Formats: sequence, structure tokens, C-alpha cells
Amino acid sequence: MQKINVGIIGGGRIADLHYLGYQNNPDARVYAICDVNKEVANSRKTEWQAIKAYTNCQDLLDDKEIDAVEILTPHNQNLHETIVIAAAKAKKHIAVQKPMTTSLASADRMLASVNKENLVYKVTENYVFYPPIVKARELIKAGAIGEPSNLRIKFVSGSSGGWTVASSSWAWRMEEILTGRGTATFDHGHHLWSTAWFLLGAVEKVTGWIDFSQDVLDCPAMIIWKYKTSKYGACDFAHSTFIAVQETFILAQH
Ligand SMILES: NC(=O)c1ccc[n+]([C@@H]2O[C@H](COP(=O)([O-])OP(=O)(O)OC[C@H]3O[C@@H](n4cnc5c(N)ncnc54)[C@H](O)[C@@H]3O)[C@@H](O)[C@H]2O)c1
Repeated sequence: MQKINVGIIGGGRIADLHYLGYQNNPDARVYAICDVNKEVANSRKTEWQAIKAYTNCQDLLDDKEIDAVEILTPHNQNLHETIVIAAAKAKKHIAVQKPMTTSLASADRMLASVNKENLVYKVTENYVFYPPIVKARELIKAGAIGEPSNLRIKFVSGSSGGWTVASSSWAWRMEEILTGRGTATFDHGHHLWSTAWFLLGAVEKVTGWIDFSQDVLDCPAMIIWKYKTSKYGACDFAHSTFIAVQETFILAQH
């Protein structure tokens, strides 16, 4: 069988992890890379042994050899929406990194566009595939802890340790923070809200308090919600300046 030709759009930090999924993959290969930064596009092409490098996303989408795209660009300025809609028009199967986009209206436009075509479409949300969380869901569904009435999540960020992220990856996130979409409650929060939904189901109502500290942190924050059934959830966010994130992030071993 011929391998699926994939075009990766956005060759930044998270692309490192996506590429690992294509190494020695019998079904698919990275055929092309597109990054607005020409240097990044060319270096990723060499690193991934891709066939083509583009700096304009429409040029990649016009490439008839490409079957599917991975959209790994920043999510600010409606970028995920713009590229998903263009990819759907080009009839490419689509995987877009979380968060899908930045408003419900935008998400509806994206879904309308992909539903018009007969395409595979997914939002890459990794927490719901994390084995301990998958196991927790299995146990809850099997009744191992009875009927849960409450889910609590605690999130603590630190100022050092963890994964090294380039200043360019932080730059657009800083702009996002100024629009009210913080790195803790919105960007990282996506994983927590997905987990909350994955474990106990659909949510009916949400409210919360989000404070702002050290000019860039959407912490401390407390978000509470009610599920459609009689269950409740709460998540509190804290930042600990002096505590390093202990985990050593080693690619492919994480
Ligand atoms: N699932 C996760 O755990 C996880 C982790 C990190 C990031 N993400 C998500 O992945 C996305 C990318 O994050 P990142 O940290 O890799 O960002 P990044 O800034 O490191 O990389 C983004 C890349 O996209 C390129 N780019 C920007 N506009 C473009 C365009 N119009 N066309 C083509 N390329 C363009 C930039 O030049 C850059 O190289 C974000 O939506 C982020 O929320 C998810």
C-alpha cells in the first residue's frame, strides 16, 4: 500500500513530537513541511527527509501529492480556523493541534467547513490518550469508586525545569495573554478541561475567577463547573516561582 503523504504546517516546538509519530511509520510519511520562517522550513525538510518545503500554506495545500495535514501553527489570530477551512477546501484530511480555536463561533465555522467534505478531522488532544487517565476512566465506568459526585484538579506551574521552549514560542503566547487567553487556564487549561469532560461527561455550566500576577500569569485562578448530571468539578491554578518542574523532558521517552 502506498504511504499517506502528510504535510506538516508549522515546524515549531510541538512539531518535534509529531514527527516522532512518522518515524518508521509503515502507513504514513512526512512528505512536506510549511513554515513561514524559511530557515525553519528548510531545516525541518532536511531533518525529516521530507520531499518539499513551503513557506506559504496555500502552496502546500495546492500540492496534489498531499493527502493529509497536521496543523501545528500558533492558535492566535484565528490561525487554526483560517488554515483548517483552507485545508478542507483543498480536500485534505486534517489534524489540528489543541486548542482547536479561540471562540465557539470560530469552532462552528471550522466544523461546518470540514463536514461539507468527506474528511477525517481531529483535534490533537493528548491528555485523553494518557494511559493513567484512560485507566481512571475505565475504572470509573466499571464502578470501581461508585458514582463520583465531584472532580478536583490542582495545577501548579513552576518557573524552571521542564521542556525548553524557544523565546519565539513564548512571543505569540504573550500576545494571547493580553487578549485574556492565559497560558495556564486557556492554553494548558485545554488539557484539563478535556480530562474533566473525558472522565465525567458533558458540562452544563462553568464559572470562575482568574487573577493576574507577575504581568504574565493567569494565576491564581479557580474554575468551577456543574456537569449535565448532578456532579461538580473544581480546578485551582497556582504558580510556584521557586519550585522547579522536576521532570526531565526527554523526547520519545515522555
Ligand atoms: N498538545 C500539547 O501538549 C501542545 C504542546 C505545545 C503546543 N501545542 C499547540 O501547538 C500549536 C503550536 O505551538 P508551538 O509551541 O509548537 O508553537 P511554536 O511557536 O514553537 O511553533 C509554531 C510554528 O508555526 C510557524 N507559523 C506561524 N504562522 C504560520 C503560518 N501561517 N503558516 C505556517 N507556519 C506558521 C512559526 O514560524 C513556528 O515555527 C499551538 O496551537 C499550541 O497550543 C500543543
